[in-house]
Amino acid sequence: MQSISVNRVNYLKGSVHISGSKNACLPILCSSIITRGIVVLKNVANITDINDICDILRYLNCKVKRRGNRLKVDSTKIQYKSLNINKCSKIRGSYYLIPVMLYLFNKCEIALPGGCKIGQRPIDCHLECFQAFGFSTIIENNVLYIKSNQRKKEVLLSLSKKSVGASINAILCGLGCEHSIIENLVIEPEGLDLISFLKKIGFNISFLNNKCIIKSHKQDIKNRITYKIIPDRMEAMTFVILGLLNGRILIKGANPSHMKYPLDLLINAKYNLKITKKGILACKSRGNAFNIKTDIYPLFPTDMQPLFAILLAASRGMCVVDETIFENRMQIYYDLLEGGGQINVIENKAYITGVTEFSPKHFKCKDLRQGAALLLYIFTYGGSIDNIDIIKRGYDGIFYKLKLLGANFSLK
Ligand code: UD1
Repeated sequence: MQSISVNRVNYLKGSVHISGSKNACLPILCSSIITRGIVVLKNVANITDINDICDILRYLNCKVKRRGNRLKVDSTKIQYKSLNINKCSKIRGSYYLIPVMLYLFNKCEIALPGGCKIGQRPIDCHLECFQAFGFSTIIENNVLYIKSNQRKKEVLLSLSKKSVGASINAILCGLGCEHSIIENLVIEPEGLDLISFLKKIGFNISFLNNKCIIKSHKQDIKNRITYKIIPDRMEAMTFVILGLLNGRILIKGANPSHMKYPLDLLINAKYNLKITKKGILACKSRGNAFNIKTDIYPLFPTDMQPLFAILLAASRGMCVVDETIFENRMQIYYDLLEGGGQINVIENKAYITGVTEFSPKHFKCKDLRQGAALLLYIFTYGGSIDNIDIIKRGYDGIFYKLKLLGANFSLK
């Protein structure tokens, strides 16, 4: 496991180009094999979560080749195999392969998904969805077995919970039946990107007011397409906050409309932030404190909550952060307390009084976004972090990009 240390803090200056979105690419890459053809994906981040899915596709006898940020997936010779393998239990996004395997083979055997330990993360809503489409599900020894009882031709389903992953899986299930209507969906920009990709493949999908109507005609499916993935809004926000904490950073290639709610919070709190034609310019500034409550898109995203914690801990005034999505996402406040923060954590709420003195500390990375938040901390106040391999799951070339901004650090 790698670690990073920052002994001398520098003001970070320059521009950074944002990579393709992890959470958009994962379901797009998984569903690319539905074509049993050749799909070229552009703007694919070179990160371990995506590379793990590539390895799983290779294991299923697909050819997957990367050239820079371009990925060519040839699934013409795909074969059914059990997905009870370590790579599937390591990451969360592997569960997007379930409806894809059901589409192609009417059955799936897969190790339960892993991912960051930010809460219990049950998959009951996914199972409900597979069952609604006519599949039977059994879980034994952390392996999920699904097979077709009688696959339904027409489905009307309303998801029982607000879930990003279950919404995507419900849409992917819909591809295998003639006509489906799915309600109570949570579709974020990444989900919309998947829908655009599926339309490009040839599916007839319409989405309005959290409801999707899918009409599938297998004869319309194209087997040769090229598609470009949207930029990663979480990576973009990480560099925005880094600029606000300690630099002058121009964030290029991001889509500010995907981040409107959190960007507006920063602008209203008088942080030095400008959205220009060239990109988002974030400059060192101390803004006012503001409250955050995590919620589904377009409100405040839970993945940005730990990043904002670093900024709010040093803001002017007092605020409350309320994490409502994942029950185990408060670690960053304990890290900040170690460094000198004035914070009181009660269950999933952090009561913060902004202070300006933080000292260099040695931290441990426990999950992807807490790790990214710790990077923001050490590039502002100094310190070190163990276990940074976790950060590479979601940030393409992060250390190269930091070097380009003039950061001084050592990796071990
Ligand atoms: C996805 C994202 C993750 C992001 C999260 C919320 C990917 C690969 N991951 O995770 O980065 O933090 O959305 O924006 O895109 N729940 C259930 N039962 C279910 C499904 C979910 O109880 O069957 C609960 C979860 O425990 C959580 C809440 O619903 O409390 C939201 O989870 P969900 O939106 O499903 O998150 P993920 O899809 O796992």
